[in-house]
Amino acid sequence: LKQIKIGIFGLGTVGGGVVEQLRENRELLKARTGTDLVILKAVVANPSKPRPFDLGPIEVSGDPNFILDDPEIDVVIELMGGVTLAKEILLRSFVSGKTVITANKALLAECAEEVFEAAYEHHALLGFEAAVAGAIPVIRVIKEGLAGDRITEVSGIINGTANYILTSMSKKGEDFQKALGKAQEKGYAEADPTFDVEGVDTAHKLLVLMCIAFGGIFDFKELYTEGITKIEPVDIEIAAGFGYVIKLLGKAKEVGGKVEGRVHPTLVPEDQMLASVDGAFNAVKLSGNFSGPIVSYGRGAGARPTASAVVADLVSLVRQRESETSPVPPLSLMSEKLKHRKLMPMAEVLSEYYLRFSVEDKVGVLAELTRVLGSHNISIASMIQRSRSEEGGPVFVVFFTHEALERDVVEALKTLDQLPFIAQPTRMIRVDPS
Ligand SMILES: NC(=O)c1ccc[n+]([C@@H]2O[C@H](COP(=O)([O-])OP(=O)(O)OC[C@H]3O[C@@H](n4cnc5c(N)ncnc54)[C@H](OP(=O)(O)O)[C@@H]3O)[C@@H](O)[C@H]2O)c1
Repeated sequence: LKQIKIGIFGLGTVGGGVVEQLRENRELLKARTGTDLVILKAVVANPSKPRPFDLGPIEVSGDPNFILDDPEIDVVIELMGGVTLAKEILLRSFVSGKTVITANKALLAECAEEVFEAAYEHHALLGFEAAVAGAIPVIRVIKEGLAGDRITEVSGIINGTANYILTSMSKKGEDFQKALGKAQEKGYAEADPTFDVEGVDTAHKLLVLMCIAFGGIFDFKELYTEGITKIEPVDIEIAAGFGYVIKLLGKAKEVGGKVEGRVHPTLVPEDQMLASVDGAFNAVKLSGNFSGPIVSYGRGAGARPTASAVVADLVSLVRQRESETSPVPPLSLMSEKLKHRKLMPMAEVLSEYYLRFSVEDKVGVLAELTRVLGSHNISIASMIQRSRSEEGGPVFVVFFTHEALERDVVEALKTLDQLPFIAQPTRMIRVDPS
């Protein structure tokens, strides 16, 4: 049986999972690829660190050239993270004709143009299923399952840490800090959770999906990104009273040739499938112009689920490599001239809104709020006033709006938040009824 020689960068959480899966499923993988997939070399930050699994034949080094300069290595798997060195590893591997697999969503999103253009230029076999939604094979669904459809929408809950925190807040009434602390204790959140709770990780993954779904390169800096740190238990409670659950959603859609993409906390109707995705789980919704909506659900992170996606790419790419059939191109497009696509500015986005005002409890306030909103073309679908908890303290007035232009809402809130009866800045959360 032909041996496929693999060099792996990183033997941490995901790298360790891949080593174990290739060992545990070795006979099955031989039957499925007609080859023997063997990791021969690994590069890590600290080569002398003990590993919680048997290294077997793997030689370990701290020098990237140990793999990159070895002409015998057929496949490079990058599971190291970070952008600078990881990018160099990918670009050099493309040039030397090595098949490449990565789980590095930060790199793919922030350097989309450089990485994908180089992959096309060198006709590289590049797999990155593990970069988005862990074990859920969403990239394969877009590239192959929906290969005949025009994708109209991609949305999802694609960060398990943020979803775990929001679920704890909503089921146990905890505030953000307490829920974050528990997520860290249980190992669902990193010591530095910034990328997860500020929406950056969700945005990285959404951008990768958008490039495939809408065919082209998007600029990560154009993608509107807002995290969950300002969500308060009172918002979760009021939203629940109106039949909504608050989720950190990444959503992109193409309407009339224009692509809209955004990441922010969103009120989702409780009867929608995405509303019932709890804890560290992920779910992705795709809509094709003929398929209609498809929702996939599963584990979005962790050693084994992420390894599953890496090894699936390995099987798929080794089959293509060995049979010399025409590969499925990285972004599903045959052309080497990748289009650069602009995102619709956030100001032009239409949405429904949840607006929670903290106001002094006095005559005329409600009339003034509705007057200013009306003067910015914002009409109200429903409202509720929460009685004050302390004598003389501010009260909450919550409006659910009909669809309005983001620019109008931002302008209206700028005006309203300066009025003397406003006690605290207004909390605005977008509502997605679809
Ligand atoms: N964890 C997940 O559930 C998950 C899910 C999806 C995608 N990902 C992505 O997968 C990648 C790896 O994540 P992970 O959680 O497995 O990370 P991790 O546990 O921190 O492991 C990182 C590995 O890379 C090595 N490394 C770090 N810097 C290096 C350098 N400069 N040169 C050589 N080796 C270096 C480390 O070496 P030492 O072991 O010697 O320190 C370690 O083995 C990241 O891009 C991440 O975003 C992770």
